[in-house]
Formats: sequence, structure tokens, C-alpha cells
Amino acid sequence: MSIIAVANLKGGVGKSTISQNLAVSIWHGGKTVCIIDTDTEQRSTLEWSERRNGNGLEPIAVFLVNEDNLATKANEAADDFDVVIIDGSPALSEITTKIVLIADFVVVPVMPSGNDFGALEKFLLRYNDTRAIQKRRGIETAGLGILLNEYDSKAIVNRTIYQAIDRLEVPVLESRVAHRVAYKEANLTGLGVTEMQDKKAIAEIEALTNEVLELLEQVSA
Ligand SMILES: Nc1ncnc2c1ncn2[C@@H]1O[C@H](COP(=O)(O)OP(=O)(O)O)[C@@H](O)[C@H]1O
Ligand SMILES: [Mg+2]
Repeated sequence: MSIIAVANLKGGVGKSTISQNLAVSIWHGGKTVCIIDTDTEQRSTLEWSERRNGNGLEPIAVFLVNEDNLATKANEAADDFDVVIIDGSPALSEITTKIVLIADFVVVPVMPSGNDFGALEKFLLRYNDTRAIQKRRGIETAGLGILLNEYDSKAIVNRTIYQAIDRLEVPVLESRVAHRVAYKEANLTGLGVTEMQDKKAIAEIEALTNEVLELLEQVSA
């Protein structure tokens, strides 16, 4: 079993979108998968799964947790599923530390705006601080990769943020996700884009899935 977290301290950067699409794509690849939704305010992945069930699609289990039962639920789920995806919460609270401690790999979606950058820096501080304790105890540290969401290299305003991310010297995933209507439609209908028609979106999510699963293998090797 493996636990992938999709986390950042900013809301609206695509944590739920990426969690849902990774789950569908991993499931189609033949592994059993569930999502743990930690955003008790938005519950967007829980609601996505309800729309999925309502539309008669093959169900993907989603569990809503708070910071008190996240680790317990993740442990249980790890026994029952090949891959557990934790859809992160934007709260800078205990839950963020727990997510970092529990995950084998953390995908950090970032959207190109200065506002998100501050949240990213705070998240990375929390990540490094949490990991420092584990390193001292000789526990393997989880991998982390920044995911450039709504990626658009042509927009000049975005270059500053991409350069700033480079300067952080934190791994950036090779796979990127562009702004596409398919992601919004998938969310509204309970689908993953790999179950839809947009070939570019499908290619993006398949590439992301392969990259994350490969990195997971390296972490657990
Ligand atoms: N690559 C994308 N293309 C188009 N819309 C996107 C993309 N990523 C996220 N969105 C949209 O942005 C909004 C916020 O995304 P969401 O996944 O809910 O963020 P978070 O979970 O981080 O709060 C949603 O309406 C979602 O459909
Ligand atoms: Mg969300």
C-alpha cells in the first residue's frame, strides 16, 4: 500500500481536482484506491463521489475525516486499498503536520499567483519541520513534488512565480496540468478526465499518474 497526499495550505489550487483525477486514473490502471477528504468545510471530494454514484459510475470510496481521526482512518484504508490518496485541507493546523507524517509522497499543486506563493512557502516550512523529527529518528522522509497546475508558460505574469519556485530548490514534477474546461466538467459530473474525451487532459493525468507512481516506488524501495 502507498499513501499519496495532495496538499498545500492554499484553497483553490486544485488539491481536490488532482486527488479525484489521480484516483480515477490509478483505479483504471488496475489498483484499488480510495480518497480521504480532509477538507471538512468544502467536502468537495466527498460530494464529487456522491455525484459519481448518482451518475451510476463505478464508485470510488471517499472518507471524510478531521484531524482527530485522520491517522486512524489512513491506517485502516492502507490495509484495504493499494493506494490511499489524502485530499488536503487548507488549514495550517495539526492536520497538515499529520498529512506530511502519514504520506509516502506529497504532491503540492500550485497555481500561478503571488498569493499562492506565500501559502506554498508556509507549507514547505511545515513539511521540512515535520520531516526533521523523522530524519532524527532514522525514518525515511517522504518524497515531495510541486505540481504546476493551470500551467501556462506563455503568460508573462507567470514567469516570476515559476522563477521563484525554481529558487526554492524543491523538486518540481515534470508533469504539468493546464487550465482546461474538462477538469471543471469532471468535477461537476463525478468523473475523472481519463473517463472523458479531452485527449490533452487525459495525457496530462496519465503522465502525472505514472510519474507519481514511479516516485512512490523510489520512496518505498
Ligand atoms: N487545471 C484546471 N483547469 C481548470 N479548472 C481547474 C483546474 N484545477 C482546478 N480547477 C478548478 O479550480 C477550482 C478549485 O479547485 P479545487 O480542486 O477545488 O481546489 P482545492 O481543493 O485546492 O481547494 C475548482 O472549481 C476546479 O474545478
Ligand atoms: Mg479541496
